Amino acid sequence: METQVGFLGCGQLGQALLAGWLAAGVVERAGVRVAARQSAATTAERFGVLAASPAEVVAASEVIVLAVKPGQITSVAAGLPFRAGQVVLSVAAGVPRAALLAACRPAEVVRIMPNVAARVGAGASLVLGGATDGAAVARAVRLFQAVGHVEVLDQEKLFHVGTALVGSGPAFLFVAMEALADGAVAAGLPRAQALRLAARVVAGSGTLAALEGIHPAILKDAVASPGGTTMQGLRALEKAGLRAALLEAVLAATARSQELEDA
Ligand SMILES: NC(=O)c1ccc[n+]([C@@H]2O[C@H](COP(=O)([O-])OP(=O)(O)OC[C@H]3O[C@@H](n4cnc5c(N)ncnc54)[C@H](OP(=O)(O)O)[C@@H]3O)[C@@H](O)[C@H]2O)c1
Repeated sequence: METQVGFLGCGQLGQALLAGWLAAGVVERAGVRVAARQSAATTAERFGVLAASPAEVVAASEVIVLAVKPGQITSVAAGLPFRAGQVVLSVAAGVPRAALLAACRPAEVVRIMPNVAARVGAGASLVLGGATDGAAVARAVRLFQAVGHVEVLDQEKLFHVGTALVGSGPAFLFVAMEALADGAVAAGLPRAQALRLAARVVAGSGTLAALEGIHPAILKDAVASPGGTTMQGLRALEKAGLRAALLEAVLAATARSQELEDA
């Protein structure tokens, strides 16, 4: 259990992690401090934790989650009292570890790419290993495993595609979920039931593939009986280019992550 955890920025992603960690019992509520631009008090009240200034967060915390927008990191971190032995967990897209280390010196920095499903303990996260201190990586892995699946990557350049798949991936699937529900509504199912069922279908299919480790093509084939309904739906998907659209979405988001780093 981590007893002194601080958040520099606690918006969509910061709150997802905070909610997930509190539910999993891996952080001690009384030792959590959140700093934000305007929303620290509201967020702190919502989660029963402490609101603090960025300097107070850094002074009091052993583990610091850097969860501001990528462009804000340098200005937010400037002049804060980071010290050796602290671990900064950066979830920012497109900000290389070298830049984070320079901003948070002399603290150790672990670069992570999580996603919003951490909020319900069903996240997926990439953790950068490689040159990062092993004990700091292990600490990050423990925290992020408490809210989902973790893969450790040693090559930082793969964080661009990691950001596209893990960070942006939920948005792609939310679109798919909405479209599935729309199809069901078009065919007469009440909207609320269509949305609930579409969410369960997407979640259940993901859980099945993840837990059984079976290739998705094999799982798909098992649902598509010869001459059946699923095969007709699959024909429509192939005609509309769903496969290519998803592949291109991952590549477009990967390219954007690279562009943001280069800017
Ligand atoms: N959203 C995702 O699904 C996702 C997934 C993976 C990674 N990430 C990464 O997570 C980071 C945060 O993204 P987000 O979507 O959570 O953004 P967000 O909802 O806009 O949250 C940003 C947070 O930073 C705070 N902040 C802004 N300026 C600040 C300052 N000068 N000092 C202290 N706090 C400040 C904001 O406070 P106020 O609310 O008071 O303005 C807010 O709490 C980004 O680097 C992003 O790349 C996000």
